[in-house]
Amino acid sequence: MSFPVTRPRRMRRTEALRRLVRETTLLPSQLVAPLFVCHGANVRRAIGSMPGHAQLSVDEAVREAEMLASRGVGGVILFGIPAKKDPEGHEGYDPDGIVPRALRALKQAVPDLLLWADVCMCEYTDHGHCGVLAGDEVDNDRTLPLLARAAVVYAQAGADIVAPSDMMDGRVGAIRGALDKAGLAATPIVSYAAKYASAFYGPFREAAESAPQFGDRRGYQMDPANVREALREVRLDVEEGADIVMVKPALPYLDVIRAVAESFDRPVAAYNVSGEYAMVKAAAAKGWVDEDRMMREILTSIRRAGADVILTYHAKDFARKAS
Ligand code: PBG
Repeated sequence: MSFPVTRPRRMRRTEALRRLVRETTLLPSQLVAPLFVCHGANVRRAIGSMPGHAQLSVDEAVREAEMLASRGVGGVILFGIPAKKDPEGHEGYDPDGIVPRALRALKQAVPDLLLWADVCMCEYTDHGHCGVLAGDEVDNDRTLPLLARAAVVYAQAGADIVAPSDMMDGRVGAIRGALDKAGLAATPIVSYAAKYASAFYGPFREAAESAPQFGDRRGYQMDPANVREALREVRLDVEEGADIVMVKPALPYLDVIRAVAESFDRPVAAYNVSGEYAMVKAAAAKGWVDEDRMMREILTSIRRAGADVILTYHAKDFARKAS
């Protein structure tokens, strides 16, 4: 039956009707908020390219996490700014490093908030690459035990989830093995399975002080042109024991999220990254767009593409407006 009997506008006339037939939900509990933790006390160092976000000392991170928990946000993912960087990224797997300190404090203050720990070396190495070097290349196999050590240290300090973002081959298996050996078989791994070499990470590298000091990450992160390869990366991580698989960035890769969601029986996470957030904030600051509506539309599109969980810098704003 077609027009005039069929009129799709009938079901769009009021908000109550629209709500009744809405296909995609978006809840604060599906969001994870990134936090940047640094040494010191009472530190809240604003990040210029990410309005609303700051490097936070542990006491301030606790306050932020309490607020996020009270708004129903699903979790936080921690990135550390170390006191000192070195070629082997020692603070990244030091039980007394900034992330384990923050995890212990947060676990005590907000026991019900899910604590994710990002596992990578780029914040901790003086060269800014995601692993240890051999010449001017990242040495995959020598990096694996260090990542595994970091994951164990974070889980022991209270991380509910560890999330390797380095893109070394075999790291999910190495981390799973190390966790199990340490009696941490119950700790899930979220792998940044399809992580692209993206221009959208710029603001994050300011926030985490983790820009590579030479070259770029194209030797280990994925080529933006590829989707078949993303499915292969995800398959390998699932075989190695990933509990949740992530696609990153989100908005320029909605087709990849959709393909992963349709091809695997694992929950899918998507990382709505720093550059995606900065674009919205910058355009809104100029008065060019309606920030709130744009945020909702973007987050909804990522869910509609197939993501179960979204890591996003909008979490705090969204949860305030949702509740
Ligand atoms: C670390 C890491 C990065 C991001 C998350 N983990 C940066 C990078 O790979 O350079 C980016 C997050 C963002 O841009 O919001 N490897």
